[in-house]
Amino acid sequence: MSDLTRRRALSVGAVLGLATATSAPSAWSWSSAGSVAGTDEVADPFQVWDPEADEVAASLLADGAIPAVNKAWEKWVRNADPLPSGMPAYLTSYLERANRIPSWADPGLLAASEKLYKRLNSYLFVSESLGSGILSTVIPREARAVYWSAGGADMKERAAKTFTFGYDLHSPTTWQPSGFFLVSANKTRMVHSVVRNLLVTSKRFMETSDQVKPISNGDILVTFHSVATVAYNNMKKWGIKLSAQEEAADLHAWQVTLHLLGVERRFIPASWAEARKQADQMLWPVVAPTAEGVSLAKTLLGYIEDASLGLTTGFVNELTRYLIGDRYADWLGLRRDWVARGFIRVAWPTYVAFREGLSPIVPEGLHLFDQFVRGVAMLFLSNGTSATQTPITLPAANRPG
Ligand code: HEM
Repeated sequence: MSDLTRRRALSVGAVLGLATATSAPSAWSWSSAGSVAGTDEVADPFQVWDPEADEVAASLLADGAIPAVNKAWEKWVRNADPLPSGMPAYLTSYLERANRIPSWADPGLLAASEKLYKRLNSYLFVSESLGSGILSTVIPREARAVYWSAGGADMKERAAKTFTFGYDLHSPTTWQPSGFFLVSANKTRMVHSVVRNLLVTSKRFMETSDQVKPISNGDILVTFHSVATVAYNNMKKWGIKLSAQEEAADLHAWQVTLHLLGVERRFIPASWAEARKQADQMLWPVVAPTAEGVSLAKTLLGYIEDASLGLTTGFVNELTRYLIGDRYADWLGLRRDWVARGFIRVAWPTYVAFREGLSPIVPEGLHLFDQFVRGVAMLFLSNGTSATQTPITLPAANRPG
């Protein structure tokens, strides 16, 4: 990272009176009475990691088994696929337990989520790719973990892998035998466990860390809110009508996802109201600029800009501003474009109303917004190389250098 970038982030933070060191969340007070477990205790999710999976990951690293596992995983993609051969027995035995939809999942709600996501796909795509993707760069712990892990050196590939996860979750066959999500979620959980073992050996990462190891249950919940709770809020803001069952289905898909990522039930919110309460306590108070986050945002936005598709710097910056707000966008130094700003603020609501069948007016921005969704999807789905999704693989080392 250049000194200039670091200086810019520090000075932006100083101007705003912000601590640029990671801000630890204040004392945790959310009760698990609001969780799917329904118990009544106040336990701090930032002090809980994923011991069983982390131990398996430590053994994989110690045994030098990562390349063999990545090779074996190439053929393990669909929910109904048998576990592949070629993995150490302890990984197979762990996955036999972890790689299943939990008994408390509601098949009716999961099926309803598949239908819902088919309808909401393009809005979710805009909210989660550009909105949550850039929001993640102002979550200090996440920005630093991503920057200093191997994937931080190749953000195009990393974003492509994250898109794989998003597509698999929001697919019409997510939870069916032919779907991919159960496998993608289990692979991701193991990536996080490997990262927990690796990042603690990175001098540069640990210099700025305020935890004994990264990616606690609490941190995963923070990211969940920055993606799912933010998308839920956006749906409301954009006037998209969701029935009570659709809202429950969206939440339930995420509840099962959080479980598959190793989050304990006592921390998983039981309702959107509880989710918002959690977000108020764990997400919004911790966002802050970091040099790592500024650098990641710049790289990500650079990939999305494509003047030939109408995705100019001004349009992309202003769509980001529209999605995450000016305060965070200012931290990231996104240049303003007043023309694009005015256009987006009028055209996006018209676009949503037209797509939802609430207005017969064909919006001026129809083509541009569709182009955005298609252009970004193609960029990251194909990762510029092939027409397939980018497989999720385990890293064997931290970011070089
Ligand atoms: C990797 C999703 C939370 C840090 C990944 C991958 C996915 C993913 C799909 C695999 C793709 C890849 O290897 O790049 C999620 C989801 C989360 C979550 C859905 C929560 C709902 C977090 C949090 C942190 C984090 C809280 C850090 C504080 C990382 C890192 C990698 C990773 C460092 C590895 C990148 C590498 O390959 O070096 N995550 N993540 N994630 N995630 Fe997460």
